[in-house]
This record gives sequence, C-alpha cells and structure tokens, in this order.
Amino acid sequence: MSLTPYLPEDDKAQPPSLHPDYRSTVLRSPGQPLIRIPQTLTELTGPDEWINLMGDPVADLTKQHKGAPIGPRIIVSGRVLDENHRPVPGTIVEIWQANAAGRYVHTRDQWDAPLDPNFTGAGRVITDAQGHYRYVTVKPGPYPWGNHYNAWRPAHIHLSLHGPAFATRLVTQMYFPDDPLIEIDPIANAVPMPYRQRMVSRFDIETTKANWAIGYLFDIVLRGHAATPMENGHA
Ligand SMILES: [Fe+2]
Repeated sequence: MSLTPYLPEDDKAQPPSLHPDYRSTVLRSPGQPLIRIPQTLTELTGPDEWINLMGDPVADLTKQHKGAPIGPRIIVSGRVLDENHRPVPGTIVEIWQANAAGRYVHTRDQWDAPLDPNFTGAGRVITDAQGHYRYVTVKPGPYPWGNHYNAWRPAHIHLSLHGPAFATRLVTQMYFPDDPLIEIDPIANAVPMPYRQRMVSRFDIETTKANWAIGYLFDIVLRGHAATPMENGHA
C-alpha cells in the first residue's frame, strides 16, 4: 500500500523536542538544524497486514495470565481520526502501561511497588472500518521518576499507532480526568494548555459496564488543527 507524502503540521499542540523541565530532553533534543530526508518507498509503504508481523490482537490485558490482576478494571475505547475527522481503519494501536501499583514489568523499573503476577501491561488492537478501537485493562497507578525531587508521573497509558506505512508511526500518552499530578508533570506540561487536554481521556457512562468496569473515551486525531499531541520529536 502506498501513501501521499506526509504533510508536516504547524501546530502549537505538539510538544517541542527541547523542554528543559523534562530533563532528558536537554541531552536528546537536536543541537543542529534538522535535515529533511526525502521519503522513499521504504518510508511510504508498509506490510499489507501489520498483524501478520505483530501477531494477533491482545485486547484484554486482564486475561493474559491465570488470575485477574489487582486494580480497577477499565474499558478504554475511541476512534482514530484524520485531519478531516474521518475514521482511519486498520490502524494498529499498541498499548503499554504500569500495573495498578505503578510498576512496570521491566528490569530498569525497581522502585518499591509490587509487580502483579497477573499483569504484564502490554497489548495491541486494530481500528475497525469506523476507526473504532477498544481494550480492557486495569487503571495504571502513578509512579515516581528521577526527573527532580518528588517527581511523580500521573497515571497514564502509552500508545503507539502504526498506520499503513513505516513512516506513519505516532507515539503518545493517554491521561485520566481529574488527576492532580498532570498539572505538575513536566512531560504533560511540555504541551501547553488548552492542547494538553487532548491527551486526557474522559469518563463515559455509556461504555461503562454495570458491575464490571468503568469506561473511558479517548479519540486520537492524527494531524491537522485538532491533532493529538505526539512524542515524535517536533523541532
Ligand atoms: Fe510510563
């Protein structure tokens, strides 16, 4: 499958590569002017079916082990949309997150919170013909990080989207409504208000299932004036 060339966006909603309050951006942001690399077939094409490369969808992160993970069960759903608000079908949405105690299954995550033997925190789903996606998980907990004294990440779910070509990969984080840690988080704050709100999901009673799980809605807009802030290193 081929695409028309990607149109760069000019949108204040996108975080800058350098945001000194988020310390690691000081070292990793470009120190030189960017060089435009012409897009070739390698960037403008991709596999016919990503899922053939990645394996079957994993839409329920609470059913990957023998037992149920600890924590509030949630249903996250929404649509992937283009700049004209049209649905984007066939988009792979990869998910990774900490468990309900705020701990990742990762050797570099050694802070004093328990791992959950029934939770890995990784999944992937595909948008349907109407651009819809949906997955079930537990609400992740906040966790401390070494950015500055008493730094805590707000609860968040990491998302990576694969479109039809290798160049069409976008990475972002989804937050939860009414989380006081968002206001003091340098990563979330790299995106100014009101655009920061685009990364915050909203509670939804329609998708909440009685006696089972709370529903959150999160639409992802790939580009244009309503674009969701992405971590792909805008200059
Ligand atoms: Fe994280």
